[in-house]
Amino acid sequence: MAYNLLKGKKGIIFGALDDRSIAWKTALKCVEEGAEIILTNAPVALRMGTIDQLSKECNNAPVIPADVTSQADIDNLFDKAIEHFGGGVDFILHSIGMSINVRKGIHYTENNYDYMHKGFDISAISLHRILQTAMKKDAINEWGSVVALSYIAGQRVFPDYNDMADAKALLESIARNFGYQYGVKKHVRINTISQSPTRTTAGSGVKGFDGFVDYADKMSPLGNATADECANYAVSLFSDLTKMVTMQNLFHDGGFSFTGVSQRIIDDMTE
Ligand SMILES: NC(=O)c1ccc[n+]([C@@H]2O[C@H](COP(=O)([O-])OP(=O)(O)OC[C@H]3O[C@@H](n4cnc5c(N)ncnc54)[C@H](O)[C@@H]3O)[C@@H](O)[C@H]2O)c1
Repeated sequence: MAYNLLKGKKGIIFGALDDRSIAWKTALKCVEEGAEIILTNAPVALRMGTIDQLSKECNNAPVIPADVTSQADIDNLFDKAIEHFGGGVDFILHSIGMSINVRKGIHYTENNYDYMHKGFDISAISLHRILQTAMKKDAINEWGSVVALSYIAGQRVFPDYNDMADAKALLESIARNFGYQYGVKKHVRINTISQSPTRTTAGSGVKGFDGFVDYADKMSPLGNATADECANYAVSLFSDLTKMVTMQNLFHDGGFSFTGVSQRIIDDMTE
């Protein structure tokens, strides 16, 4: 059921790779709630993925390639967005993550630093780059809302999350610090959603991911939050109903983050 929460709003969605992506689900929900959107992803992901199908389902939303580590690509994206919408945007979803150390199965204590730099650039510093570029071009409207996706490994140890844990800690910090600056300057709010483990391409790359998912589900009083539910939460943060929420890392995890132990886990241990 739609509520027209985003009627008249315009936004950019980063990171829709396939129909399991959190960004894919969020794009559909934003359009369902009345928004006009632009889709973007890295050129290589656009070639591999099926984003044209999503574009069709989103009233033929323009697809603009941008590798988030390229300043020229991000400049071009915002220039095209301003041209397309005839002005700034009201919301941005940053749903981007990648670690070469994770992909190659390199243990945390043995991490390769070139890979680590690349991973931080894509997964965290890109949020700073996007916000800095938007600020320079005045591309986000007053009371605009920016949401990035995080994971609790940014704050608690999940050993196999590897250097993505450090990337998420940096991402959450950038959301806070830029949130202050953009809030003062233009009432733009910036938050991260710390989402339950979710079966997507990025998620499934983490070693022992199925174990992660099952453990989190059994620990969480409400069970794991799905990608669709995450999309709903993102929509609420893009809407005017959450205008005074900024600089927060918001757990969307069925209660996992504040549960010490659950009866289901105890039962499993004492079987
Ligand atoms: N899946 C999970 O369990 C989970 C849990 C919490 C948070 N998250 C976060 O949610 C976000 C979205 O991930 P997802 O699970 O939907 O997986 P996904 O693989 O569908 O999305 C990751 C996206 O990042 C994009 N990307 C990678 N390198 C890029 C680059 N250089 N430039 C532009 N885009 C690039 C990919 O093309 C892809 O679209 C990520 O930040 C991820 O860490 C995921």
